[in-house]
Amino acid sequence: MAGVVVLEAIVVVPDDFVQVCMVTTGSGTPFVSVLDLRPLKNSLYPQVNATQGLVLLSRINFSPDTDGVR
Ligand SMILES: *[C@@H]1O[C@H](CO)[C@@H](O)[C@H](O)[C@H]1NC(C)=O
Repeated sequence: MAGVVVLEAIVVVPDDFVQVCMVTTGSGTPFVSVLDLRPLKNSLYPQVNATQGLVLLSRINFSPDTDGVR
């Protein structure tokens, strides 16, 4: 068993649908338990376009004592 994998990516979806693909690597049958899609304004991540996306490597909370972004 490979455990839980959480993946976060920002991509351009040019059509009315999105395809999510998984590859079996020999450690069990992969499955999706949650798929959360959120529309973002193009201006939020100008580095992203139809051929280049972003994948989250880490997230740092610079304000752990508060419960929101200020
Ligand atoms: C996407 O952005 C990359 C990096 O800025 C650029 O090299 C590439 O040509 C862009 N692709 C399109 C389709 O605009």
